[in-house]
Amino acid sequence: MRAILAERYGGPEVLRLAELPKPVPADNQVLIRIHATVATPPDCAYRKADPFIVRFFAGFIRPKNQVLGDSLSGVIEAVGKDVTRFKPGDEVFGATCEVLGAYAEYITLCENGALAKKPEGISHGEAAGLAEGFLTAMPFMRDHGRVEPGKTVLINGASGNVGSLAVQIAKRLGAEVTGVCSGRNTDMVLGLGADRVIDYTKQDFTLGAGRYDVIFDAVGKSSFGHCRPVLNRQGVYLTTVPTLSAVTRMLMGRILGGKGKRAIFAPTGLRKPHEKAKDLRLLADWAEAGAIRLIIDRRYPLADMAKAHAYVDTGRKRGSVVIEVVESLEQAQAAH
Ligand SMILES: NC(=O)c1ccc[n+]([C@@H]2O[C@H](COP(=O)([O-])OP(=O)(O)OC[C@H]3O[C@@H](n4cnc5c(N)ncnc54)[C@H](OP(=O)(O)O)[C@@H]3O)[C@@H](O)[C@H]2O)c1
Repeated sequence: MRAILAERYGGPEVLRLAELPKPVPADNQVLIRIHATVATPPDCAYRKADPFIVRFFAGFIRPKNQVLGDSLSGVIEAVGKDVTRFKPGDEVFGATCEVLGAYAEYITLCENGALAKKPEGISHGEAAGLAEGFLTAMPFMRDHGRVEPGKTVLINGASGNVGSLAVQIAKRLGAEVTGVCSGRNTDMVLGLGADRVIDYTKQDFTLGAGRYDVIFDAVGKSSFGHCRPVLNRQGVYLTTVPTLSAVTRMLMGRILGGKGKRAIFAPTGLRKPHEKAKDLRLLADWAEAGAIRLIIDRRYPLADMAKAHAYVDTGRKRGSVVIEVVESLEQAQAAH
């Protein structure tokens, strides 16, 4: 099968197309023909080993799992003899969790992993991107932010994949939502349902008149210290990025008993597979009801993964960068 290998840490050029043996499912596993995956900032962090801490769990000198990629959507091709939840032909989507390996034509995953039936009526690319953003944004909004009707929520980085899904989730949970993005993305974020938008190139939300119960820094560009003045009493600052100040503040909050304004960083990628599977089923319901959608910025064929990573590295993508592993004839002709 074709796969993208990262045999060392470095720039996008370390990613190369290779032929690997097709995996065989164990008794409790399914074999998935991957149709689409996504190129994401966490994938780039694994590729670069940046931040350095990545090396402690991904391999100190070189990557232990040389096929990167977490989110996927595809079709089950075969199942092990003990598998009862899925059958060949089922369309599924989900996350590989710590084993990675979605940058390939095939993968084997446990049937009890972070997998669910793909929502009907959306493409594999949309399903893979939704899985990535939702499995990150949902735990922040629901579990850490306790977003509910009447709460005021600000999403910093509302034009990224995590932020654009957080806007839609917070609205669906009943909050009043302010999105922070640049002027070129204002209409897009309003179109996702945000009640108002702040253009960060013109106005610093931490100096404005708005006050918030939850500030979700989806791109980790602000800090608890800066956001503190615009948090309501008992307000919470959530961040996807484990900066020293956020982690220190989080530990201090625990020592002080969690009273007052708090900061929370959560490694949502490390949640248990069965928790992710439950959220994927919820996501599928929302997607089928048309209550949540993916913004797709660009699409690349699998062979162009290095180009996709170079684009994600710019930090300017809007929504998702989808990798079409099974290319349509039209896409293949355009790419080659
Ligand atoms: N904690 C976890 O377990 C976990 C899991 C998944 C992802 N993450 C992290 O979550 C972060 C977000 O991922 P993502 O895919 O949503 O990111 P992304 O799509 O790469 O974010 C890019 C977007 O951020 C906007 N942006 C850049 N600078 C900004 C600023 N100063 N203020 C507001 N917006 C700004 C850009 O808009 P403009 O071009 O208009 O500036 C662009 O649309 C990444 O750092 C990722 O590593 C963490």
